[in-house]
Amino acid sequence: MTRHVAQVLDELKADHRNLAVLLGMLDREVARLKSREDPDYELLHDIMQYMTGYPDAVHHKKEDWVYACMAAVRPAMKRDLARIEHDHAEISNLGNKLLSDIQAIESGTVMRRFDVIEDARRYLTRQRDHMNWEDEKLFPLIDSLKSELDLSEVPSRVGTMPDPVFGPSVENAFRSLFEAIRNESRAD
Ligand SMILES: [Fe+2]
Ligand SMILES: [Fe+2]
Repeated sequence: MTRHVAQVLDELKADHRNLAVLLGMLDREVARLKSREDPDYELLHDIMQYMTGYPDAVHHKKEDWVYACMAAVRPAMKRDLARIEHDHAEISNLGNKLLSDIQAIESGTVMRRFDVIEDARRYLTRQRDHMNWEDEKLFPLIDSLKSELDLSEVPSRVGTMPDPVFGPSVENAFRSLFEAIRNESRAD
């Protein structure tokens, strides 16, 4: 049983490391927008296409399941954990809003630069605050409860799609994002 918890926790932490790389790249493109330079809209599009796909369908659903299991063994935590699904829904809405801003720009719609920057700022802040809370408080709690949690069977509501960028094979639509990430890690 412990092995399953450790494995699920490792997967969640790996997702966070990957998400942090993409949030850093998103931040840099938004900084360009702020300083009135042209951002790489294709890259922005690919980042947000990824962010509104795998993390929402798999990462967040997996966390919802794990936190529900935690609340079942620690009912006192129920109130705190109830915030999570709301957080995930909000992150998904903010991400989809930013993606639709970028799609509108790509299709030639005139958008106020300030509105796009503001939508990006909201998304980045919400996503980072949420991930920090999980990294600092919730993931250590999962670890401390590992002898009590039963995560041996992943329920069907948790998506099973493989990660299209960081998974075993890179999906064609994400080839250039994958290359951009590779260049990023070379530059470090
Ligand atoms: Fe989460
Ligand atoms: Fe998370």
